[in-house]
Amino acid sequence: MDRISVICAHIPGCRVFADIGCDHGYCTAYVLEKGLCERAYVSDISAACLKKAETLLAAEIAAGRCVPVCADGLDGVQDADCVLIAGMGGEEIVRILSRAPLPERFVLQPMHNVEKVRRHLLARGAHIEEDFTFEDGKFYDLIVGRAAGGDAYSDFEYRYGRDNLKSPSAAFLRKLRKEADVLREALAADVKREQREALLERLHESEAIIDAIEERL
Ligand SMILES: C[S@@+](CC[C@H](N)C(=O)[O-])C[C@H]1O[C@@H](n2cnc3c(N)ncnc32)[C@H](O)[C@@H]1O
Repeated sequence: MDRISVICAHIPGCRVFADIGCDHGYCTAYVLEKGLCERAYVSDISAACLKKAETLLAAEIAAGRCVPVCADGLDGVQDADCVLIAGMGGEEIVRILSRAPLPERFVLQPMHNVEKVRRHLLARGAHIEEDFTFEDGKFYDLIVGRAAGGDAYSDFEYRYGRDNLKSPSAAFLRKLRKEADVLREALAADVKREQREALLERLHESEAIIDAIEERL
């Protein structure tokens, strides 16, 4: 499945949906087409990016079912009960979430710094329902959850994602193997002692998880 399809398949039904950093607006088009919400916002900090969604969703906008917003993060979309933030760095996602109450439901697809996103959500009392790696040419992580309910993660779960450890997918195993190869290559190069120790520690951790997953297969 391609990245957009995986994201769309995990968007829950809601009253008001907001696609933050919508760019093309494909996810909102899906949500409206499937009747998953009563109305939607497409929001982007860049007017040029937002224009793409406005073009795609012109009919929905004209019908009043979709409202375009050119703003930073959640500014101007406070009544949304489900928020999607996909394709942005984890630090930017955390900055956006920090500036407002957590949305009732959220679907997040950080490009990196995923651990920071997990820690931010749980520190604010959120409950994570799904947290897994998938593959579409590259590896991506998807986090789906709710503002309320609370949750507790182990350090490993923060680092790797809970579903990846509980029910590892072939994509997650491929990601770990690839990361282990990269670490082995780095270790084969001429690196300083402290750096070598840190790389070795990460490699051993990856190898231990790979072995544990392979034993379960
Ligand atoms: C790589 S695109 C991702 C588009 C789409 N969400 C996806 O996953 O395919 C990132 C988009 O986020 C927008 N963006 C970056 N920072 C933002 C912010 N603070 N608030 C709103 N939009 C932002 C960018 O202008 C860009 O359109």
